[in-house]
Amino acid sequence: MQDAWYDADIERVIVNEEQIQDKTDELAAQIAADYASVDHLLLICVLKGAVMFTADFARALGRQGIPVDLEFMAASSYGQGTTSSGVVRILKDLDRDVAGRHVLVVEDIVDSGLTLSWLLKYLESRSAASVEVVTLLRKPGAMRSAPPLKYVGFDIPTEFVVGYGLDYAERYREVPYVGVLKPEVYTRPKL
Ligand code: IMP
Repeated sequence: MQDAWYDADIERVIVNEEQIQDKTDELAAQIAADYASVDHLLLICVLKGAVMFTADFARALGRQGIPVDLEFMAASSYGQGTTSSGVVRILKDLDRDVAGRHVLVVEDIVDSGLTLSWLLKYLESRSAASVEVVTLLRKPGAMRSAPPLKYVGFDIPTEFVVGYGLDYAERYREVPYVGVLKPEVYTRPKL
């Protein structure tokens, strides 16, 4: 098989495909047990970064016997760069009412937690019955400022990572693992 185009741009793999798969199954089993009495959990996928994790996580919950509804939201706190601006914009709102629903927000990564804090307040203001968060990745900054996270996949260092939904300038989302880019990638002219 040909090498994937992105492998040459990755300096280091932080979480590999097998680790992601195992952790997804583990989180799904835990959440299935916690929500055993809930009828139709509502998963809210935070676009675009959480798209891969949500797709795999929803199927893992299905294997655990938990039916879910899926909703999508897009909120942005990052521009083209690699540090949080703290400014949250709604790019895509929910299609359905969340009032009275048990909501599980599916996140790719919690860094400062600014985006998430804002999102949780927003969902609570819409009278969800309960709101919890499952995030695949957490950075150390989240310990200080982020809202409490009940379900966390991996704690990773404070480094900018790409893959499994996470991008740098909209690229590398399709990389099946999470990794750090080579420094020269950042100095290349943008396409
Ligand atoms: P926060 O508001 O600082 O927690 O940032 C949340 C959002 O920033 C995430 O949902 C990602 O979209 C993006 N983000 C944070 N860290 C990274 C990273 O290392 N790589 C790519 N995107 C990131």
